[in-house]
Amino acid sequence: MRQIVVGVSGATGIILAYKLVDFLTRTENIVHLVMSRAACKTAQYELGEEYASPSLWKKKFSAFQQNYLHCHPIHDIGSPIASGTYPTDGMVVVPCSVATVGALAAGLADNLLRRAADVTIKERRPLVLMVRETPLSPIHLENLLKLSRCGVTIATPVPAWYHRPKTLGEMEDQLVGRILAALKIPNDLEKSWQGTIPIPAMIDPVEGEL
Ligand SMILES: Cc1cc2nc3c(=O)[nH]c(=O)nc-3n(C[C@H](O)[C@H](O)[C@H](O)COP(=O)(O)O)c2cc1C
Repeated sequence: MRQIVVGVSGATGIILAYKLVDFLTRTENIVHLVMSRAACKTAQYELGEEYASPSLWKKKFSAFQQNYLHCHPIHDIGSPIASGTYPTDGMVVVPCSVATVGALAAGLADNLLRRAADVTIKERRPLVLMVRETPLSPIHLENLLKLSRCGVTIATPVPAWYHRPKTLGEMEDQLVGRILAALKIPNDLEKSWQGTIPIPAMIDPVEGEL
């Protein structure tokens, strides 16, 4: 049974974190959920009042899933996930703000989310940051390069169109699938590329077959 830390910071795209927690708990992985204050505010804007804290999220899941979900207050720096001695299988920050990126690049572990990520880096465990900002400044890019060189996976919530998604939900699933793939967790959310589809011969109306 895997133990995955899911950090949610104050960037847009909170639904991706919610879907990730849903998938991980449905598939019997233990999730340690920690949300920054800005994440709670963003969740309130994007999902509604009833999603404005980790404990409110917990209420949304089935009793089965709740057994796998541990919520940690952002200020609880004494939590088990604040220590490298606590064995986790990795961490995801989704969505990841550039403020959190900056803090991690500087080694600033001033709340539980940042401390847990700092621990994940120092213990050389998988860390995936789904960074959400655009455009990116040289400061953001330098911070991301620094973290990438430490072995951190920098993912971005950039959808793929070649699967021809029909809904925003399908695009979100594909992005959550990408996160799971980065953690090497098998999933049915991401459609893998099967090679190009043979395209019937195209006829140029003037020149004939292309
Ligand atoms: C609705 C909303 C959306 C935001 N979206 C982003 C975003 O996409 N990317 C980002 O880096 N910051 C975004 N911010 C700003 C961050 O929340 C802010 O910089 C905050 O200090 C980040 O703190 P945290 O990283 O501890 O969560 C957003 C803020 C709000 C209120």
